[in-house]
Amino acid sequence: MLWHQILLALGSFLTAVQCFQLNLTQFYEMPQLYDLDDYDRCMQEFDQETSTYCFVRAEVQPNETVVAWQAIAEISRFDRHHFDHRQLYFGLCLRECEASLAQLDANELKALQAGLLTDNQKVNVYLDLFAMEADNRERHQRLTNICLNWRLQQRGYGLQAKSVVEYCDEAGKSVEDDAWNFTFYTIICALLILACLGSLVDLHLKYRRHDKMLKERDHYKTPPKSRAQQLLLTFSVARNWYRLNQEPSGKIGRELRFLDCFKFFAMFMVIFAHTNWVIYESAISNPQDPERLLHTAAGTLLVSGSLITVTFFVISGLLLTINWLAVVRSMQSKSKEVWSFGQYFLLFVKFNVFRYIRLTVPYAFVLLVSGVYFDNAGGPLWRHIYEREQLSCRRNWWVNLLYINNFVHTDERCLLQGWYLAADTHSFVLSLVVLMLGHRFAQWSKHLYSGVLAVFMILPAVITYVADYYPIFIPSPQTQKDSFIGDRQFTEFYTSSHMNFGAYFCGVLAALVYDELSSRQYKLRELRSFQIFWFSLIPA
Ligand SMILES: *[C@@H]1O[C@H](CO)[C@@H](O)[C@H](O)[C@H]1NC(C)=O
Ligand SMILES: *[C@@H]1O[C@H](CO)[C@@H](O)[C@H](O)[C@H]1NC(C)=O
Repeated sequence: MLWHQILLALGSFLTAVQCFQLNLTQFYEMPQLYDLDDYDRCMQEFDQETSTYCFVRAEVQPNETVVAWQAIAEISRFDRHHFDHRQLYFGLCLRECEASLAQLDANELKALQAGLLTDNQKVNVYLDLFAMEADNRERHQRLTNICLNWRLQQRGYGLQAKSVVEYCDEAGKSVEDDAWNFTFYTIICALLILACLGSLVDLHLKYRRHDKMLKERDHYKTPPKSRAQQLLLTFSVARNWYRLNQEPSGKIGRELRFLDCFKFFAMFMVIFAHTNWVIYESAISNPQDPERLLHTAAGTLLVSGSLITVTFFVISGLLLTINWLAVVRSMQSKSKEVWSFGQYFLLFVKFNVFRYIRLTVPYAFVLLVSGVYFDNAGGPLWRHIYEREQLSCRRNWWVNLLYINNFVHTDERCLLQGWYLAADTHSFVLSLVVLMLGHRFAQWSKHLYSGVLAVFMILPAVITYVADYYPIFIPSPQTQKDSFIGDRQFTEFYTSSHMNFGAYFCGVLAALVYDELSSRQYKLRELRSFQIFWFSLIPA
């Protein structure tokens, strides 16, 4: 009961603590981050004419004498908490623009032109991806710039903005299937056909069996007889269902079941975080709310939960090492000789190739899906968010398949979350080398392991200090809105392999300790000091 009350008190304390008060009078002096005309109306109202809707990126130009600029400068200064309010998104229906500018004369129009936005690196990444829009960009630049500056003036902000068209949509255009799309459809069809065929063959085999001793489902658990059968039955739905639901077997399987719990919670948080990211990328009509979030303790804890991925690294390291130890044991039971370099090398290649195949087949399929063009579901930001991903995937899929996407082409990321797989792959290779060295030079292994751990514990600290990173990664609202493009902290600090290897190696060491303990039948839980240590983990 007491615990309960303390927790409740802590919870309400964390949500109530808010040191910073956003001055909303000042907040509403700034132009809105998003000014989007009605997309559907623009595209559908007049069928006969071709209507055009342009998505325009604008950057407010400084003017110290204007109140709105003072507010922008003051609020955007806190860039870890707040959006950069200089960056505005406009969705302009060109027909409405023309209508609104009709009564202005040439001089007035000239005064409204603030120029082309060229020196914004993040915007330029988008312009480069949407290179096929170069014509539209040139054709509509003048009109859109005048139009949005007219709006800023009409609303009394007294500011001007440079701008550039990201893309324009024309009414009546639909997506044309290309080679990439057809590849996707072909593979989907092939998979469906194979799944049907495999399932039917499996069903047929089941009825042919006539074995009274076997229960219904046992058929699906017995391995197929021939190679050809095995190949076909890989696609059998029922068989895969039972495989997925299989209970872990063996001593290791039972002992490692607790990992599922960690995996569940970590996975939940990861999905939550990435859903949140897409919300930040799209239009938010009340940006003050997400901005306030990071001024509260609870909000900060929630958003800086990026450390959750460390859990996965530890689990990966643990599983690799358990696997490695099992292989070593089975090989040593056959012969006691010292292994040659060739044997180590062969084993190294085998580990990596099998892992590569296991990961890459489903990964490649996800990459393929991510590049498929779909019809615009009906919104001005659809292409900004989805087509950016599709274009990046079409351009950079090979970077992902080589697992170097956490340091190559980091501004045009296909599957942003794929950085984890790259960092995991690098950690896997390095750990395997370390484990092999530890096995070959067994008398030095303790020195080696502690040396590696020490290096990769100290290295991130040194790099963080020298390169002046913030010690934890907090995805600020603007970072998320920019889709993590050009964010040093994310690319160099958070997703790079050498910063994460320490956590991975902790998993490796945990597995070595676990192996030692279980082979010696050591009863840790009877140790008083261990009990104290164990319960002290709960608050941590
Ligand atoms: C809020 O901002 C407005 C306009 O900038 C200013 O006049 C007012 O004094 C500010 N209020 C507080 C409490 O700082
Ligand atoms: C700044 O704003 C004032 C008032 O609107 C205007 O007179 C002046 O020309 C602007 N300065 C610049 C550099 O745009």
